[in-house]
Amino acid sequence: MMTFEANIPNREECQTCALTFAYKEINLLYEIAVILTSTVDINDSIEKSMRKLKQNGYLERCAIFKKKEDIDELELVNSIDLEPYQKKNATYRFGEGATGLAAKSREPIVIENIHNNINYLNKMGNISTQMVSYVAVPLLQDEEIIAVISANIGKNSPLNFDEIVRMLTIVGTLFIGSMKVQQTIVKEKESLSDLKTYYKEESQKEYKFENIVGKSTKMQHVFNLINTVAPSDATILIRGETGTGKELIATAVHNLSRRQNGPFIKLNCAAISETLLESELFGHEKGAFTDAREMRKGRFELADGGTLFLDEIGDITPSLQVKLLRILQEQEFERVGGSKTIKTNVRLVAATNRNLEEMVRKGEFREDLFYRLNVIPINLPPLRERYEDVKLLTEHYLHRFMKEHRKNMHISKPAMELLLDYPWPGNIRELQNTMERIVLICPDGEILPEMLSHVLPFNYQRLYMQPEVATPPPPTYVSTPAPLPPQESGAPMTKKNLLELEKESIIQALIDSHGIQSKAARLLGMTARQIGYKIKQYGIEF
Ligand SMILES: Nc1ncnc2c1ncn2[C@@H]1O[C@H](COP(=O)(O)OP(=O)(O)OP(=O)(O)O)[C@@H](O)[C@H]1O
Ligand SMILES: [Mg+2]
Repeated sequence: MMTFEANIPNREECQTCALTFAYKEINLLYEIAVILTSTVDINDSIEKSMRKLKQNGYLERCAIFKKKEDIDELELVNSIDLEPYQKKNATYRFGEGATGLAAKSREPIVIENIHNNINYLNKMGNISTQMVSYVAVPLLQDEEIIAVISANIGKNSPLNFDEIVRMLTIVGTLFIGSMKVQQTIVKEKESLSDLKTYYKEESQKEYKFENIVGKSTKMQHVFNLINTVAPSDATILIRGETGTGKELIATAVHNLSRRQNGPFIKLNCAAISETLLESELFGHEKGAFTDAREMRKGRFELADGGTLFLDEIGDITPSLQVKLLRILQEQEFERVGGSKTIKTNVRLVAATNRNLEEMVRKGEFREDLFYRLNVIPINLPPLRERYEDVKLLTEHYLHRFMKEHRKNMHISKPAMELLLDYPWPGNIRELQNTMERIVLICPDGEILPEMLSHVLPFNYQRLYMQPEVATPPPPTYVSTPAPLPPQESGAPMTKKNLLELEKESIIQALIDSHGIQSKAARLLGMTARQIGYKIKQYGIEF
C-alpha cells in the first residue's frame, strides 16, 4: 500500500474495539452480499451497496472505474454522490492521479489529506472540506487489472486506512463478480435473441416463395393463385399426392396472409384416434375424461387470430365432420366436457391426398363440409407431371445437402438424365431424401449413373440400370417380377400367356408414360378406370 502522509492508528491496541469492528464489518458485508444477489439490476444493487457503506459512516463518493478493453485507461461505471457533469470527467489514464496510479502500481493508494497533495487531481471538482482523505484500490483478476474502486473519507470515519483498504478490496471484488455474472447473462440473452431471430428468419425463409422451387407452368399457376388468395380469409383446400408440398404451401399461405404475425397451428387428423382428435381440435375441460387432469385448449383456440392447418382432412370421422362443419359456419365451439361456448377467429387451410369427391359419392364425407372446405382448391401436381422442376429441385437439394455435409460434387449428364427419367412416386420428399443419400454415399467429384444404383429403388434399378445385353430381359417394373414363358413360334396362345402379355403391355405402357396412369391408359386404348383395375389385378407396383 502506498500511503501519502498517512498516520494509521493501530486498532489492535484495543481488543474490544477490534472485535466490535470485525462484527460490524461482517454484518455490513453480509448486507451487501444480500443486496447484490437479490436484484437483477446490477447497477442499482452496486449503488445501493455504496450507499450502505456511506450510511455506516465509512466512505463517501464511492466510485468504481473499469479498465477499457484495449487501452490502459479507466472509465467510471458506478458511483454515488456525483452529478452527471462530474461523471463525464471521470476517466483516468494509468498513472494519472491517485486513481490511475492505483491501476499502474497495482497497489492501494491512500492520500491522507487531499487538499494539499498533487496526486489528488480533483478532476471531478466540487469536493467538500469535510472529505479529507482519498483511497483508491486496484482490483485484479488473473493477474490483470480490471478495475479500481475508490472513496473519499470524512474526518469522522470510524475506520483506519488499513480497514478501509480491506473493506474496499472485499466489496470491490464482490462488485466485479456480480458485474461479470451480469455480463454473461446479457451476452447469453443477446445470443439467444440472435438465435431466435435467426430461427424465425430461417423458418420463414423455408416457406417463403423463393424457397418453394418450381418453374413449371403448373407451379407458376399455383404461385399466382396463392398470391391472390392468401391475403383473404377464405378457406383453402390443398390437394396433391404425398410429398408434393401441401404443408409447405399451407405455411406459405399463412406467411403471405394478414395473419402472418398470428399463430400458425398444425394438426394431422390421420395420426390419432377420434377421441384424441376431438380433444386436440376443441380442447377439453378438467375431468372431461379419465386422463383430463387439467383444462387444455384445443388447436382451434390456440389458432385464434391466426391460421389452422388441418392435414389429412379426408380421414376425419362422420361425427367430427359435423362438429367441424359447425365451427366453420359459426366460428364457435365448446371444449370437450364443457358447456361454455368459445368464439374463435381462425382461417382454415386443409389438405388431403384422398379423393374427396369420390368419398362424398360413397357417403363417406359430408357434401356440405366438402363445399365449406373447398372454397379455394389448390391442386399440387405430382412431380412426374412437371419434369422441368426435377432438374431445379435436384440442383437445389444437391447444394443444400453439400453445404450441410461439407461435400463438393456435381451430377454428370447421364446421371442427371437417369434422375429426370425416374417417375418419383414419392414426389419431392422422395427426391429430397434421394439427394441426401447421394450426397452422403457418393465421393466428392462427379456423380456417375452407376453410383445411383444404391439410392434409387430396387425395381427401377433392375429396369433402367442393367448393363446392355443382346436380348434385353422383359421389363421388371414390378415388385415380383413375372418373366414371360418362352413362346415357341406357332405354339397356341394359352389363357395364361395372354394374361402375361396383357400384364407386360400395361407395364410397358406405364414405363413409356413415366408412370402416369391416364397416359398409359390412352396408349393402350383403355379408360383410366380400366387400367386402374388391371394394375390392381396384376399387383403391379410403381
Ligand atoms: N416446391 C418445393 N420446393 C422445394 N421443396 C419442396 C417443394 N415442395 C415440397 N418440398 C419439400 O418436400 C418435402 C415434403 O413436402 P410436404 O411435407 O409439404 O409434402 P406433403 O404434400 O404435405 O406430403 P404428405 O402428403 O406426405 O404429408 C418437404 O421437405 C418440403 O420442404
Ligand atoms: Mg403433409
